[in-house]
Amino acid sequence: SKKITIAIDGHSSTGKSTAAKQLAVKLQYVYVDTGAMYRAVSFYALRENLLAKGSLDIEKLVESLPDIHISFKYNKDTDRADVYLNGENIEKQIRTLEVSGIVSKVAEISEVRAKLVEQQKAMGEEKGIVMDGRDIGSVVFPDAELKVFMTAAPEVRAQRRYAELLERGDDVSLEEVLENVIGRDHIDSTREDSPLIQLPEAKLLDTSKMTREEQFELLVSWAEIAV
Ligand code: C5P
Repeated sequence: SKKITIAIDGHSSTGKSTAAKQLAVKLQYVYVDTGAMYRAVSFYALRENLLAKGSLDIEKLVESLPDIHISFKYNKDTDRADVYLNGENIEKQIRTLEVSGIVSKVAEISEVRAKLVEQQKAMGEEKGIVMDGRDIGSVVFPDAELKVFMTAAPEVRAQRRYAELLERGDDVSLEEVLENVIGRDHIDSTREDSPLIQLPEAKLLDTSKMTREEQFELLVSWAEIAV
C-alpha cells in the first residue's frame, strides 16, 4: 500500500514521542525523534565544556559541528531507537534536566539546525516515516501528507515529565520541571529560525484530557484518511 510522511510537532512534553512511536509501530513505519538529535548536540556541548560561566560558546560549537555525528540504532530491550554520538550510546544522558536546560539555546543556532535538518530530510526520502519535533511540518517535510500539532496544558505536561524523571531516580522538583517546559516553549516558539508554529493545515491534538489510547486511536484514524 501507499506510504506517506507524517509530521508531528508541538509543545514540550506533550507525549509526542510516545504517540509517534506507537503510530509508527502500527503502520510499520520508521520513527525518528528529532528532539534526541538536538539533545545529542547539547550533550556534546556540555561534555566539551562549551558552557563556560553559564553561557554557551556558540562560535566554538559551530566550529565543532563537523566532528559531531549523530545516528540511531535499534535497542531490542526498549523496542526503541537509541541515539548515538560519534558511535557512543548516549540515550540515557540526553534525557536529564541539565540537557533540557540548554537544548532550546542550542536549537536556536541556525548552523545546528541546517546540519540536523539535512540529515532528517535524507531519512525521510523513502516515505513511510513518522517524525516528531518542532519544525517537521514547516521545514523538514513541508509536503507531509499528515501534519499534527500536539499540545496540552503546561501543568499537565510538567506533571507527566516530573513523574518520568522521578521514576528514573532524578532529583528534581515539579516547579523546576514546569519552569523548564514553559521556558522551552517560549524559546522554541519565538526563535527566528524555524520557530514552532501551529500550521493551518495541521490537525490539533490537545492531550490535556486524553489517555494515550485515545490519542493513538485519533492518530491512526487521521493516518488512514491521509493515505
Ligand atoms: O522533543 P524534545 O522535547 O526532546 O526536544 C528538545 C528540544 O529540541 C526542544 O525543546 C527544541 O528546543 C529542540 N527541537 C527543535 N526542533 C526539533 C526538535 C527539537 O528545535 N525538530
